[in-house]
Amino acid sequence: MQRKQFIKITGATGAFTLLGGTSWLLQSCNNEQNKKDMLSNALKMIEGDFNTPLPAPPLFDLKNTKSFEAKQTPVEILKGKKTNVYGYYEGMLGKTYIVNNGDVINLQFTNSLPQVTNVHWHGLIIPSDMDGFPSRVTEPGGTFQYQFTINQRAGTYWYHPHPDMLTAEQVMQGLAGFFIVRDEEENALKLPNGESEIAFVIQDRRFKESGEFDYAPTDAEVMTGFFGNYMLVNGAYNPYKEVKAGWNRLRIINGSNARVYNLAFSNEQDFVVIGSDAGLLAAPETVKSILLSPGERIDMLVDFTNEANNDFFLQSEIFNGGGVQGREAFKIMKFKVGDKSNETFTLPAVLSVIKKINPSGASKTRTFDISNASMHRNDMKDSAVAKGTGKIKMGLHGINGISYDAAVMNETITAGATEIWEFNNSSGGQIHPMHFHGNHFQVLERSGKRGIIATETGWKDTVLVMPGEKVKVITTFSQLKGKYVLHCHNLEHEDSGMMLNFQIV
Ligand code: C2O
Ligand code: CU
Ligand code: CU
Repeated sequence: MQRKQFIKITGATGAFTLLGGTSWLLQSCNNEQNKKDMLSNALKMIEGDFNTPLPAPPLFDLKNTKSFEAKQTPVEILKGKKTNVYGYYEGMLGKTYIVNNGDVINLQFTNSLPQVTNVHWHGLIIPSDMDGFPSRVTEPGGTFQYQFTINQRAGTYWYHPHPDMLTAEQVMQGLAGFFIVRDEEENALKLPNGESEIAFVIQDRRFKESGEFDYAPTDAEVMTGFFGNYMLVNGAYNPYKEVKAGWNRLRIINGSNARVYNLAFSNEQDFVVIGSDAGLLAAPETVKSILLSPGERIDMLVDFTNEANNDFFLQSEIFNGGGVQGREAFKIMKFKVGDKSNETFTLPAVLSVIKKINPSGASKTRTFDISNASMHRNDMKDSAVAKGTGKIKMGLHGINGISYDAAVMNETITAGATEIWEFNNSSGGQIHPMHFHGNHFQVLERSGKRGIIATETGWKDTVLVMPGEKVKVITTFSQLKGKYVLHCHNLEHEDSGMMLNFQIV
């Protein structure tokens, strides 16, 4: 979409809610219907034939492999077309790590990309210098030794690049992988495994005629985040997965730059949420649909027993996403259910113990204004062009009205302190999945109607803050001193400044 066109259709009343009060985008008025038509046409999902089997990224062989690499390779995503993707191996995405709590990671990373990059281990509680801080990057051709010990609960974590102002385009090009941690507590539950444990990452993309990814966000698309109109699952366009008619465990990452999904099954069946970002919930929570925002993970059990020899879809349903998101329902992947499985599984009533942090023990409450109502075109810095590829300008987004500067320390926290962090989007018009590094948190409260959803009853590292909402989270900060970042996991927002530094001292 042309930026001019977009401005025209947002109109004077629309722009405030649609674009989060960015006054510089306020232009001459146009009618509501026009705006709706334009948005829905522009973002219409193009559904495929669901004929490609769901690929699984290969497992990383930690015993025999001492290195990994980011590189570009050509793959076929659309039939007969070539897409040059980035990956941590030959192909899109990266190999899947499956580790046990206590394992030691010691791997040499080589950057074989034409631009700087680094690796962030999303959800891992590891030292600051291993965490992929935005300005600690590896030059093209350079190497870096990633060395850390896993010291946390089982869960579906992931890894992706985090260089200042280049995260969005590098993730879009394909850099992302699973990092699954197992532990005794989870093993004891004997959850569905082997063929019945399916991990996949969902991502939306646009393609050029040539087959290459199309990623050149306009300023208006940086405001909302960039949306694609092809759904990829583990790098395959609208695939299918054969499953047994029994219990299956689905571990899903929303690895999209900006798109939130309202996940549900087309046969309207229930599913059981057993975990979220940072591992198991205290008890299973049965739902029919759930919102999953960029960066978040869901761990669910689905009972397909009554669906033997049926086909149906995992889809995203319409939701109220502040005008821009949630306007369209679309299919993501197909499940082809086979014969009844003869494995038996009884859903445990208790999964884990989540000790609730008592808010009265908090030594401090910090409020972060994420409404972005004060962001103004004049705040834009030229540094983006110098440091990044210039795809995204710095300054369209910020936290507390300030855009990211790697050299500034915004917040200082005492190691071991319990704090409440409030994300205030009450006058904002954009969706912001807020995430911070090096610590997990609990969701304390959310203003408005949504309340605390199933995935938010356990430990989290990313929380969705809808337009109009205030969300409070609580955590006891780790003893790992050093600098980390807090940011919006809408990657266009992040790269245009919606990030800040904090240090643990
Ligand atoms: Cu998944 Cu700081 O990011
Ligand atoms: Cu992270
Ligand atoms: Cu955001």
